[in-house]
Amino acid sequence: MHDAPKTMGQQFGRRSWAEPWKIKMVEPLTQSTAEQRVRALEAADYNTFLLKSEDVYIDLLTDSGTGAMSDRQWAGMMLGDEAYAGSRNFYRLEAAIQRRYGYAHILPTHQGRGAEHLLSRCAITPGQVIPGNMYFTTTRLHQELAGGSFVDVIVDAAHDTDSRDPFKGNVDLDKLEALVKQVGAAKIAYVSLAGTVNMAGGQPVSMANVKALRALCNRHGIRLFLDATRMAENAYFIQQREPGYAGVPVAAIVREFCDQTDGAWMSGKKDNLVNIGGWLAVNDWTLYEELRNQIVIYEGLHTYGGMAGRDMEAMAIGIEECLEDDYIRSRVGQVHYLGELLTDWDIPIVQPVGGHAVFLDARAFYPHIPQKEFPAQTLAAELYLDSGIRAMERGVVSAGRNPATGDHYYPKLELTRLTIPRRVYTQAHMDVVAESVKIIFDRRMETKGLRMTYEPKYLRFFQAKFERL
Ligand SMILES: Cc1ncc(COP(=O)(O)O)c(C=O)c1O
Repeated sequence: MHDAPKTMGQQFGRRSWAEPWKIKMVEPLTQSTAEQRVRALEAADYNTFLLKSEDVYIDLLTDSGTGAMSDRQWAGMMLGDEAYAGSRNFYRLEAAIQRRYGYAHILPTHQGRGAEHLLSRCAITPGQVIPGNMYFTTTRLHQELAGGSFVDVIVDAAHDTDSRDPFKGNVDLDKLEALVKQVGAAKIAYVSLAGTVNMAGGQPVSMANVKALRALCNRHGIRLFLDATRMAENAYFIQQREPGYAGVPVAAIVREFCDQTDGAWMSGKKDNLVNIGGWLAVNDWTLYEELRNQIVIYEGLHTYGGMAGRDMEAMAIGIEECLEDDYIRSRVGQVHYLGELLTDWDIPIVQPVGGHAVFLDARAFYPHIPQKEFPAQTLAAELYLDSGIRAMERGVVSAGRNPATGDHYYPKLELTRLTIPRRVYTQAHMDVVAESVKIIFDRRMETKGLRMTYEPKYLRFFQAKFERL
């Protein structure tokens, strides 16, 4: 005897809803044997970034560039104007960003880090500090390479995986005010604000917080720049959680939020639903002129910035699609479905579940593995060995080393990220993922940590090598 099976909606006490698209083209997946996975992981030195994609079954390494484009985007690819200068697709992209995000001056870049590099070069004077709502790997590195130093001013709740605070991405305005007092406003290059904080588990920033932050910045004459990479997902959380925003379209919330800031950088590979590309946008003409001059050195002419015309067209269309309420509900809804399964099974994850990924709390998962033995990296390895599912470390390996002392940064959060690509996997895939996590959780006390055997100088998580202890 067994209980009658229930649909997703019945399980959660509501009517079921489904993805607002149907599948027109499929890409076959292959499953490997346990022996094949052991060989593949050893060949990859226990780093999931070094696995071959053909050895992976369900790929949750990242949501970056891994989404499925729509038929309209693919049709747009055929309209690529590959002129070196003044491509018509650039003007379509520029108009889409101006309309939806509201900034005045737009520069395409090859991806998000190209934009981070340019902004850091042009907006930071060596010796300045850049406060922000938790670091992001490439963002902080570009700030440091430009001679700046990052200071974390996120709310304390962001570091607590159990806190159910609805806006764990918020800036702690008291911490920021104290920093301004300590170093002086002139020493602050700008405030670096991320819409949904990746490293905190995809946690959002509230509209009230960004408005208060704007007022603080105005009082001190400090610029405020936004990492808009997952701003559409942030806006969805505002719609769902913040008083006064129920029923307000996500597109309108994005615009209201961006209007509080002086500019933004973007990895178009996430929200904007393309496989490659990014952009940088600012309102100030003088800063734009400097960026426009620098972009020709590092990216390409200011009307393509490292992107093909066809990719700019796909991104212009993706910008419209990512702001549709039905789309964003199903995108975040799928992440939450996986999160709710794991929560119901008492598996430790970051709460509340974020917008793009479920983050397993590797410290709580493996209390017997100290942080210097890389519990989150270990968890990603175990998941791959069980089922061929690929996840990513977001803990001490990703945090890297303090350039001043040479020591590991030991972040409070030691997480393994199950990142859901956009419009790619189904609910059945999520069930397979959840069951694999449960299996490795049930045998967690038998698991041993890892030792790092090779460490590259920058962004070590991409290429570091490990062995079993
Ligand atoms: C929040 C955030 N900012 C910036 C970037 C950098 O973008 P890209 O990978 O396109 O260089 C990423 C990429 O993962 C990101 O998640």
